[in-house]
Amino acid sequence: ASTLKAAAEAKGRYFGTALTRGDLSNTTLTNLAAAQFDMVTPGNEMKWDTTESSRGSFNWGPGDQIVSFAQSHSMRVRGHTLVWHNQLPNWVSSLPTNQVQAAMENHITTEATHYRGKVYSWDVVNEPYNEDGSLRQDVFYKAMGSGYIADALRTAHAADPNAKLYINDYNIEGINAKSNGLYSLAQTLVAQGVPLNGIGFESHFIVGQVPSTLQANMQRFADLGLDVAVTELDDRIQMPADSSELQQQGRDYGMIVNACLAVSRCVGVSQWGVDDGHSWIPGTFPGYGAPMMWDSSYQPKAAYTAALNAL
Ligand code: XIL
Repeated sequence: ASTLKAAAEAKGRYFGTALTRGDLSNTTLTNLAAAQFDMVTPGNEMKWDTTESSRGSFNWGPGDQIVSFAQSHSMRVRGHTLVWHNQLPNWVSSLPTNQVQAAMENHITTEATHYRGKVYSWDVVNEPYNEDGSLRQDVFYKAMGSGYIADALRTAHAADPNAKLYINDYNIEGINAKSNGLYSLAQTLVAQGVPLNGIGFESHFIVGQVPSTLQANMQRFADLGLDVAVTELDDRIQMPADSSELQQQGRDYGMIVNACLAVSRCVGVSQWGVDDGHSWIPGTFPGYGAPMMWDSSYQPKAAYTAALNAL
């Protein structure tokens, strides 16, 4: 196959990207995205600070634009995200504790109902873990304890019974304290019949540092009866990137695609963006860049060839 999506589909998988509203006016970028990818995650447009910046007042415009782009190019959508401590409006964090649950449930119900039938999956809870495997003491945890996660999943399931419901996090790609914490929660949720369908492994990697236990870790979650997905892949390099680092990045992308293909319940891989020129990495990790499969002139890099050849 000559595109990522065709090659992924031949293996029963998808290959996705993240797009922001700003990206939609860049026709070079959108043409490339539509040619290569069959899944879209909105980069920011379905987050709480966009969809409900003041209590009870919902704004669907930005998210709808991403959905409509996806639909017009036969791409599916990963909804991202309903409950997260970041990009959360101040009104939520400053609510009296006894109002947080109602606000969370209303947010989930209203957003998941709006997008019912239009999203393949939801990252219902995003980044709930600390590095040591304990749950973050965020506003949701403080109000409801660890039960907020099951409550969020049940609320999302009631609003959109067909969407695959995920917990999504970073630094859980290898077997470590953080993924062990999530693993025991996932075991409990599955045993209790809570509607959890999948685990999203963000996969914001540093070149040469893809965890060797990636495949085994995805497999142990899959063995619980869950789907797994690489949801936000990028592989950053300390700038300036030299040719050996770009070759290593190719080996990293190949290894990640191979790990997904080796796990039958790995449904797909999504890169967090399209080209190096629009990635979030340089703005968030100063000194790092070049994390994507296409460079800032939209030329395919070794990482693209390696991903395609691995499929
Ligand atoms: C990032 C976006 O790409 C940026 O534009 C924004 O400023 C911050 O958030 N984990 C996630 C994503 O789950 O939502 C984040 O996206 C990247 C880290």
